Amino acid sequence: MKIKIIEVGARDGLQNEMQALSVKDRYDFIKKLCDSGLKIIEAGAFVSPKWVPQMDNSNKVLTKLFKDQTSGKINSKIQFPMLVPNMKGFQRAMDSQTKEIAIFGACSESFSQKNINCSINQSFGHFKAVINAAKKNNVKVRAYLSVAFGCPYEGKVSEQRVIKLTEKLIQLGAYEVSIGDTIGVATPKQVRSLVNKLGLKIPLKKVAMHFHDTRGTALANVLASLDLGIHTFDSSLGGLGGCPYAKGASGNLATEDLVYMLEGMGHKTGVDISKLIKINKWIENKVGHQLPSHVGKTESSLYK
Ligand code: HMG
Ligand code: MG
Repeated sequence: MKIKIIEVGARDGLQNEMQALSVKDRYDFIKKLCDSGLKIIEAGAFVSPKWVPQMDNSNKVLTKLFKDQTSGKINSKIQFPMLVPNMKGFQRAMDSQTKEIAIFGACSESFSQKNINCSINQSFGHFKAVINAAKKNNVKVRAYLSVAFGCPYEGKVSEQRVIKLTEKLIQLGAYEVSIGDTIGVATPKQVRSLVNKLGLKIPLKKVAMHFHDTRGTALANVLASLDLGIHTFDSSLGGLGGCPYAKGASGNLATEDLVYMLEGMGHKTGVDISKLIKINKWIENKVGHQLPSHVGKTESSLYK
């Protein structure tokens, strides 16, 4: 079965690093990810640079990637979605000729306030405006829902709320909703329960899962989701990442761990693990610390 992977290391990953990487390093990182066979790579965020300075100058990164696609240096089929929270972000996305954006909401009021400085209701006002503008400009819209399995400020999150918000995002016009375990608390039992209920209301081909591996349950959660018919997963090279507004959100599921497990199970990802491992070493050097991925610590020559 073909699996869709959305690589979020250059956004979800780097937004959480103490030291912001330069535009050149961010571009080089994404170029390497392109060369590994990944087809959907988040390239940055049009959020406030006061809130997330690590994503400043995302327009420059994107412009260079588009230039390389035009010259044939980068596969022209690779998609580079960009995070957009509001109309100001959308305008910046348009100024850079962005073809796909990702809006991001939350399943708890406290997280919404901390992350985007507004209530859930207000955020949906922003999303509606952004999606309407995106439709007029032929821009695809993906959506995230954070803290779907637990919130660092409010604890448990009701399944009914997650389902209702997911339905609302699809109704507004998002082509896919990524369900975020932002602080990595989910277990397979919880995942099965939510996915089963979501599947009664929404075609599961419109649902992606976004697991963080804080407690080591991310791959188990992928397996539980796969068994129920989910084929789209977000991951980040090396397990880079977290969320600056979610204490304890250390590390997304590592792309190389995800690809290793999927390929071993006979699923086709189109991604070269040995290249991912080389990128792991490269980006560890750039961020200046070891990354949590498992496969990233093995030798790339093992996968030739
Ligand atoms: P705000 O301060 O409430 O915004 O921030 P505002 O509308 O009141 O405007 C204040 C100033 O910000 C103004 O500038 C605006 O122009 C500017 P000033 O007049 O003071 O010079 N501004 C902007 N500048 C650039 N781009 C924009 C923008 N909007 C306003 N788009 C805002 C509201 C949403 C902008 C802010 O809260 C923000 O940027 N938040 C982003 C936080 C973020 O990026 N978090 C991480 C991503 S989410 C995540 O990681 C979770 C995920 O991975 C899934 C999961 O794991 O669950 C997706
Ligand atoms: Mg995340």
